[in-house]
Amino acid sequence: MRDMEKHSKPWDSDQITREYFDSLLVEMRHIDAVIPSTKLELYGETFDTPIMMAALSHLDNVRENGMVEMAKGAYAANAVNWAGMGDEEELAAITATGARTIKIIKPYADNDDLFRKIEHAERCGVFALGIDVDHAFGGNGKCDLVLGHQMRPKSLAELKEFINATKLPFIIKGVLSEQDAYKALEAGAKGIVVSHHHGIMNYAVPPLYILPKIAKVINHQIPIFVDCGIMSGMDVFKALALGADAVSAGRVIMEPLRKNGSEGVKDQIIKMTEELAGVMARTCSQDLKHIDPSVIWKRNGW
Ligand SMILES: Cc1cc2nc3c(=O)[nH]c(=O)nc-3n(C[C@H](O)[C@H](O)[C@H](O)COP(=O)(O)O)c2cc1C
Repeated sequence: MRDMEKHSKPWDSDQITREYFDSLLVEMRHIDAVIPSTKLELYGETFDTPIMMAALSHLDNVRENGMVEMAKGAYAANAVNWAGMGDEEELAAITATGARTIKIIKPYADNDDLFRKIEHAERCGVFALGIDVDHAFGGNGKCDLVLGHQMRPKSLAELKEFINATKLPFIIKGVLSEQDAYKALEAGAKGIVVSHHHGIMNYAVPPLYILPKIAKVINHQIPIFVDCGIMSGMDVFKALALGADAVSAGRVIMEPLRKNGSEGVKDQIIKMTEELAGVMARTCSQDLKHIDPSVIWKRNGW
C-alpha cells in the first residue's frame, strides 16, 4: 500500500521533492563536537534561526488575520518573516508587528504596479523585497491571471530596473536552473530563492537536487534561500548542507497557525530549529557556516 501511495503521482513535483529529501542520508561525527549555534546573519541583522516563513498570502481562510498572526509568530521566534501577494493595508499591518519582513511582489504585467509596490514596501520598513519570477505563466503557456491581476514574464533588463529602484536587498524567487542563477547575479540581485513554487509545474527538479550546482554558480556572492517541502529540522539541515544559507517553510506552519495562531507558528519554528540543532550537534556542525556537505550520502548509491 505504501509503495502504491509513493508512486501514485509520479509527475507531482511535491512528491518528487519529498522522495528526494528522503533519499538523502546523514553520517554522524561526534569527536570534537560542540553545542551548535543556529544564529543566522542576514543583511546585517541577526536571527535565532535559519528557518524563515515562506512568502505566503491569503491566509484568512486558515486563520483570521492569518498573515499578521504568522508575522507575530516569526517575531516571537526571532525569525525572518516573508509576505507574498497582498494589499498595502495588510503589508502595513504585517510590518507593524515588528517582524523583519521580506516582501515578494508578483510579476505584474504593468511595471508601474511593481514600482509602486516597491515604494510602498520601503515605506512600510521591510527588510528586503523581491519578485517571484516563476508566477508569470499559467500552465497553458499564456500569461497568468492571479485573482484578476495580469502577470507576464520579466526580462533581465526589467529586473535590473526593479533592482535599481531600491536601496534594499532585492531577491529573485523561483530560481530553478543554473541559467537563471547566472542571470540573477547579472541583474544585481542580493539573494535568490531556489524553489518550484509548491509544484507550479509537473516534474520540476527538486530544489535540493539542483542546489549544489546553483550554489557553485552563486559562489557565496549572495545568500541562497530554499523552499518547497521543508517539513522538519532534518530537511532544513539537508538544505543547508547542500548550499542554502537559510530556508523558508510554508505549508508546514499552516496547521499550527490554524490551531494556535501566532503561538502555534512560534512553537513550530522553535521545534524545527531544535531538530536542526540536534542534527548539527551530531554532525560536528558548530554553526550554520560550518556544515560540511560531505556528511550527506545518497541512498541510491549503496
Ligand atoms: C497559501 C499559499 C500562498 C502562497 N502565496 C505566495 C505568494 O503570494 N507569493 C509567492 O512568491 N509565493 C507564494 N506561495 C508559495 C510559497 O512561498 C512557497 O514557495 C511554497 O509554498 C513552497 O514552500 P512550502 O512547501 O514550504 O509550502 C504561497 C504558498 C501557499 C501555500
